Amino acid sequence: MELQKIARETFFDTFSAENTKENMEKYLAERLSVDALVTELNNADSEFYFAEADNKVAGYLKINVGDAQTELQDDNAVEIERIYVLKAFQGKRVGQSLCQKAIDIARQRDAGYVWLGVWEENHKAVAFYKKNGFVEFGKHSFKLGDDEQMDVMMKLELNPPA
Ligand SMILES: CC(C)(COP(=O)(O)OP(=O)(O)OC[C@H]1O[C@@H](n2cnc3c(N)ncnc32)[C@H](O)[C@@H]1OP(=O)(O)O)[C@@H](O)C(=O)NCCC(=O)NCCS
Repeated sequence: MELQKIARETFFDTFSAENTKENMEKYLAERLSVDALVTELNNADSEFYFAEADNKVAGYLKINVGDAQTELQDDNAVEIERIYVLKAFQGKRVGQSLCQKAIDIARQRDAGYVWLGVWEENHKAVAFYKKNGFVEFGKHSFKLGDDEQMDVMMKLELNPPA
């Protein structure tokens, strides 16, 4: 399954250097199994998009609305749950186009803001979202295998008051 292939590869590339093998395997087995992904695909409040470059899948985006949002669950918001770009395609604005896609969808839905949680140690991603106008508004905990980690919560207001 194409989605599982890119999801596993990008997750592994991003997190394997800083996490134990056991915790990585647990996450891949539980959260990125075909069953888990099919359940996510069948959720009407979640959408997946692939980005292509050179006729290959270069990255993907997962967004959530309504009850599918991992937190907040504000009907007026859209969550970016995942933006992942394959290593070979990073730095070529693929991430940028996926982020823009999420923002465009949020505007079409008349959402007030787009939000996301990103691991606080993932400095590259935090910098990427800042560059795209997201600002930090809190923290929440996230489990990678047995390891409790901290996510930075960030949001982009779409209709900020003048
Ligand atoms: C973070 C990530 C999505 C960025 O995607 P990308 O395709 O590599 O980034 P882009 O080429 O679209 O960069 C877009 C802009 O952000 C900037 N940017 C990218 N990485 C940056 C960094 N580390 N620091 C500051 N700015 C950065 C780029 O300079 C670019 O701006 P420019 O066009 O004005 O030069 C990608 O690196 C990735 O998938 N990383 C691994 C997975 C991950 O951490 N995902 C987020 C957690 S859910």
